Amino acid sequence: VITLKSRYEIDKIRYSCGIVAEILQHLGEMIAPGITTMDLEQAAEEWIRKKKVKPAFKGYHGYPCCLCTSVNEEVVHGIPSARRVLKSGDIVGVDVGVIHDGYYGDAARTYAVGTITADVQRLLTVTEESLYKGIEKAVSGNRLSDISHAIQRHAEAGGYSAVRDFVGHGIGRGLHEEPQIPNYGPPGRGPKLKPGMVLALEPMINQGRYEVEVLDDGWTAVTVDRKLSAHFEHTIAITDDGPSILSRLDG
Ligand code: MF3
Ligand code: CO
Repeated sequence: VITLKSRYEIDKIRYSCGIVAEILQHLGEMIAPGITTMDLEQAAEEWIRKKKVKPAFKGYHGYPCCLCTSVNEEVVHGIPSARRVLKSGDIVGVDVGVIHDGYYGDAARTYAVGTITADVQRLLTVTEESLYKGIEKAVSGNRLSDISHAIQRHAEAGGYSAVRDFVGHGIGRGLHEEPQIPNYGPPGRGPKLKPGMVLALEPMINQGRYEVEVLDDGWTAVTVDRKLSAHFEHTIAITDDGPSILSRLDG
């Protein structure tokens, strides 16, 4: 069942999402050639501690960190490492979740490190746009797969592919609640969207083929063809006035 959240609950989720947005903003300002993904993890951990919230991912099925940091051909769930030094031309996806007072917030974005090519910038732009295409369809009366379809359509129109093995999700008292939200599929299928649904939409878009595999660390998902992948995620609430993006700085 997809639980509908009250105004009070949505405000709780909005609070957690606000911290997540601050962390992503702060890390975005740090990202530069020479820093490591562990530097990002440490900065996030400190922010989380100062704000008196808890990390959502650390300990989740044994995941070791507050952040997922996924570089270049890494799609999602890259584990921060002091050995992973970012260099100019890289892209790095940063995914972070927190919980406060029983409610989760979750968001991600992919950053350029130093100078990236126009080609790579286009991957980032189209991926973020595909997230917004999905958000536009998150309105009462539509069906769930209208979101999925809009994401896939925009990614493929740009010459890219949408990852199939990972999905967006409902969020609230759980990090992953129903429904699962694929980033591909035909329109008009699945449950009707209703005010009070809170969803984490998270397209993962590949430069090449959509297939991914998980490395021997048990977490890091990479593209099978080792071409680049980008990831953007927002937590949104469906309201009578349309979608409300909770994980924005001014959310
Ligand atoms: N945003 C991702 C998700 O919703 C991050 C989860 S990482 C994990 O699944 F470690 F918590 F699995
Ligand atoms: Co998520």
